[in-house]
Amino acid sequence: MPEPILQMQGLDAHYGDFQALYGVDMHVEQGEVLSIIGANGAGKTTLMRSITGLLTNGPGQVRYRDHDISQLRADEIAVHGLAMVPEGRQLFPSLSVRENLMIGAQVGRSGPWDLQAVYKLFPILEERKDQASTSLSGGQQQMVAIGRALMANPDLILFDEISLGLAPIIIRDIYKALPGIIGTGMSAIIVEQDISKALSVSARVYCLQEGRVSLEGASDTVSRDDISRAYFGIE
Ligand SMILES: Nc1ncnc2c1ncn2[C@@H]1O[C@H](COP(=O)(O)OP(=O)(O)O)[C@@H](O)[C@H]1O
Ligand SMILES: [Mg+2]
Repeated sequence: MPEPILQMQGLDAHYGDFQALYGVDMHVEQGEVLSIIGANGAGKTTLMRSITGLLTNGPGQVRYRDHDISQLRADEIAVHGLAMVPEGRQLFPSLSVRENLMIGAQVGRSGPWDLQAVYKLFPILEERKDQASTSLSGGQQQMVAIGRALMANPDLILFDEISLGLAPIIIRDIYKALPGIIGTGMSAIIVEQDISKALSVSARVYCLQEGRVSLEGASDTVSRDDISRAYFGIE
C-alpha cells in the first residue's frame, strides 16, 4: 500500500462550545484523488479548515508526511505544500485577476505552476487578467481560485465545493481541467455536492455525517444504498 501523505487521527474540531468533528480518522495516499461527500452542515468545510490551519486542532491529529501540522498556522502549512480552493472562492475584490493569482505565489514554492501555466489551463483568465476579479462570472472566479491555489505549487490541493452554484457548462470545463492539474503528480481532496461527479473523479470516497465518518470505500465499489445510508443516516 502506498504511504499516506496526509493522515487525520482522532480529529476533533470545535467552534467555541460547539463540536463539529468527532474523532475523524482519514488518510490520503500519495498521488490519490479522494472525494468527501456529505449533507450540508456535516463538517466538510470544517475538515478542510482543520487540514489547512484555519482551525487549530489537538496535537497529532493531522499529520502531513513526517510533520505534525495540527497546530501550525495556515501560512506555515502552505509552505509544506498544501493549498485550498475555498468554498465561495474568497478572492480579493479590489485586486485584478493577475494580482489574485500572484497571491498564491507568495508561498514561494517552486514547481510547474506559474502565471503562464495557469493562463494555458484557463485561457479566459489571460484575456481578463487586468480586470477586477469581481467583474468575472462565478465560473471564471472559480478558475481564479483554482489558479491561485496552483500558483503555490502544492503537493496536495483541496477543493471545497468545486462546482457549487456554477452552470453545468462551466462545471464541465473545470472538470476537464482536473486531469491536467492532478496529472503533475499532485494529490487532491475534492468536496463535492454532486455525488456522481465526486465518484467519477476519485479513487476513494469518504462520507461525513454530523461530524463523523459514516462511509469509506473505493469509489467504484460503493453502492447507491451505502451512500444514502451514510449521507442521511437512513437505515
Ligand atoms: N464559524 C462557525 N461557528 C459556529 N459553528 C459553525 C461555524 N462554521 C460551521 N459551523 C457549524 O459546524 C457544522 C459543520 O459545518 P461545515 O463544516 O461548514 O459543514 P459542511 O461544509 O459539510 O456544510 C455545522 O453545524 C455548522 O453550523
Ligand atoms: Mg462546506
